[in-house]
Amino acid sequence: MRKIYIFDTTLRDGEQSPGVNLNTKEKVEIAYQLEKLGVDRIEAGFPAASPGDLAAVNAVARAIKNSSVIGLARSRTQDIDAVREALIGAQDPCIHLFLASSPIHRQHKLRMSKEQMLEAAESAIKYAKQYFSKVEFSPEDAGRTEIDFLCQVTEMAIKAGATVVNIPDTVGFLTPYEYGNIFKTLKGNVNGIEKIQLSAHCHDDLGMSTANALAAILNGADQIEGTINGIGERAGNTSLEEVAMALETRQDFFQAKTTLNLSEIARTSRLVSKLTGMVVPGNKAIVGANAFAHESGIHQDGMLKEKTTYEIMSPETIGLKDSKLVLGKHSGRHAFREKLIDLGYELSEEQVNTAFNKFKDLADKKKEVSDEDIRAMIEEKLIDT
Ligand code: KIV
Ligand code: ZN
Repeated sequence: MRKIYIFDTTLRDGEQSPGVNLNTKEKVEIAYQLEKLGVDRIEAGFPAASPGDLAAVNAVARAIKNSSVIGLARSRTQDIDAVREALIGAQDPCIHLFLASSPIHRQHKLRMSKEQMLEAAESAIKYAKQYFSKVEFSPEDAGRTEIDFLCQVTEMAIKAGATVVNIPDTVGFLTPYEYGNIFKTLKGNVNGIEKIQLSAHCHDDLGMSTANALAAILNGADQIEGTINGIGERAGNTSLEEVAMALETRQDFFQAKTTLNLSEIARTSRLVSKLTGMVVPGNKAIVGANAFAHESGIHQDGMLKEKTTYEIMSPETIGLKDSKLVLGKHSGRHAFREKLIDLGYELSEEQVNTAFNKFKDLADKKKEVSDEDIRAMIEEKLIDT
């Protein structure tokens, strides 16, 4: 089974979520948890962005032993020097350089011709290569770059010494079909492509970042970049937990897997949410509060008979105790009776029926009926127990 490398950028692209600011202690705490989760690479920050971020990246670099630690740099010597300083003490350091390649960015942001972009990127990679054996290069906005030019940029990066070439869909513009095709074209047309790893980096502006990452895998990507809970610029990045569980659950289809400790997913998600202040939506795939919760009577009845009727993966895999049967107005007698037994009540069939009718009245007035509501219903002698 092909291994997919996981490059976590929660501490860099994730921290670029509006309103998020992690201090050194918080970055180190998250980095330790990412190491436990088993991510291969941790992008700890952008050292040239501020002295505080340089110090935080250095603290992560010194703390982490089992994942490679990465610092981001624009294709400029000052940025590269800042990453050199930040990664002192790292067990397995790597620099991540970027320079935009798309016509929109070349014309409006960089004011560079194609030749100038190639030259600037090449000299940055060569400069970085003097200090780092591992160099990742990203042609920013690769997704909107002319495919012939992207092939040229990739070939230049390989010749200059990059060990990973990352293909960012910076603005989340592409469909899975288009994004997958870029990987297929690079694999088939770029000299030396077999010497490096190809990486996918997607944003979620159109809600396609996980699908795009998976399309990249199907077309030969070796590495997926993303964040925990999918946090990041604008609509965020690919959710790493979604990619990992898609590969785990559909190994038959993807024939590829990560080496993550999947049972650390729930804990990592909670920690990132707590320290970034970014609340995880209830219906978020894998880590939302409702991801393993069932409300309707038909589903609950199925779950009580055989869990695979309505669950394609088990909550234990990601480190949760159990699925939840939530009592609400769609719930049925089967789940209600189980709940009474769980709460320690032994009622006759007639008492259960009376209680069930009272429960349905209450459920019409409330979104969710809690254990406390049920206890109150029974113990306040709403029914004659
Ligand atoms: O989305 C993007 O293009 C980036 C680069 C810095 C890789 O985050
Ligand atoms: Zn990004």
